[in-house]
Amino acid sequence: MRRTRVALLATAFYPDVLPLLEKHCLRCHREGESAPMALDTYEKARPYARAIRDAVLRGAMPPWFADSKPNEFANDPRLSAAEIEVIKRWADHPKVKGAPRAAVFGAAHLTPDVTFAMPAPFSVPAKGTVDYQHFIVPTNFTTDRWVQAIEVRPSAPAVVHHAVVFVRPPRSAWLRDRAPGAAFTAKGAALEGLSAFDEVIGTYLPGNGPMTLPEDHAKLIPAGSDLIIQLHYTPSGRATADTTRVGLVFAKQPPRYRIYSAAIARGDFEIPPRVRAHTVDITFQVQAPTAIYALAPHMHLRGRSMRVSVDDRVVLDVPRYRFNWQLVYRPARQIPLARGARIEVEAVFDNSGNPNAVRWGEQSDEEMAVCFVDFVIPASASPNELFVTPQLLRGKQP
Ligand code: HEC
Repeated sequence: MRRTRVALLATAFYPDVLPLLEKHCLRCHREGESAPMALDTYEKARPYARAIRDAVLRGAMPPWFADSKPNEFANDPRLSAAEIEVIKRWADHPKVKGAPRAAVFGAAHLTPDVTFAMPAPFSVPAKGTVDYQHFIVPTNFTTDRWVQAIEVRPSAPAVVHHAVVFVRPPRSAWLRDRAPGAAFTAKGAALEGLSAFDEVIGTYLPGNGPMTLPEDHAKLIPAGSDLIIQLHYTPSGRATADTTRVGLVFAKQPPRYRIYSAAIARGDFEIPPRVRAHTVDITFQVQAPTAIYALAPHMHLRGRSMRVSVDDRVVLDVPRYRFNWQLVYRPARQIPLARGARIEVEAVFDNSGNPNAVRWGEQSDEEMAVCFVDFVIPASASPNELFVTPQLLRGKQP
């Protein structure tokens, strides 16, 4: 009797659990990626059976912080109740292995048409904090190029908190006094001359993999542009050198739509000392019909929650923001915006226990109130005509 019962309950690693890890976990939990341990074989996962069960039951893994009530998200990585049950059953009897096979990894790397690399490796010390590093990489493109997919790939992901790749077209004045070739910090000057033309075209965020846009959608790199790669390195205890690369796949034909990334931000706030919940409101009105493709809240350590609404309808609610996880939320369907629609961002900060006021700044004891928004616009439109408002931090034309 007892044997039959155990056999019925037994859930085996390879046939039952590995498919779930492949789907939800291995983009981070494999060699060379951001998570501290690989989980792609029975032998590697077995010691963590209980931790896996607990992390999944608590909803701590995979990391995801948006409430699903206002919106479904195309990239929501969470497990269903039935999948959680499978993990739990195996973790309760983790000896059952099943027939071994090699894991198949989800987020495959791109095969780029062109790859740009940082001009030289950057040496990340074992300890301490490293200011944001910038590298200018000329594209030498002689015509405008439409990009369908992009992958930003550090050689040492363990020390890269995040990387942002900007396109700087020839008419932008941003960081013009800096030379390509060497790493530089841009403290204070990082935003000087930054305009609506200088657009984020790609990011590296742990576990996110390449960004591939839907058919007929692409990002624009104007002729003569430079890439400016901005890196936030976080020492890992061991001195490490990193060379981050940017791979591009060009669109096969000119797209109908352009994905244009803007930062809806506000820099003139002051978070009073010892306040548990201080709200910074940002309002942004679109000047032409458009749609939202993706949203990415960005605050620092005191960021507590962020809510984004369109004409009073909540489209993203992140009730527990975590600085360590910079996530992008991509609604299952694009959110259409009529001309004049108002996007409202409500950023809440927890400054309790701090005797000092906190203002805008790059360092983690300073703050930011930003929501990166990927807009969908007609390929022929100029983003500047569409989005210039005083609230747009980089709405200034060069
Ligand atoms: C986006 C990348 C990412 C994904 C996806 C992810 N993890 Fe993790 N995981 C991490 C990182 C980084 C850490 C270490 C830092 C931390 O614990 O916050 C971690 C830590 C853990 C831990 C140790 C936490 C603890 O409680 O000690 C477990 C267990 C774990 N992950 C299991 C999983 C499982 C199971 C999945 C899939 C269902 C998963 N993770 C998906 C990145 C990820």
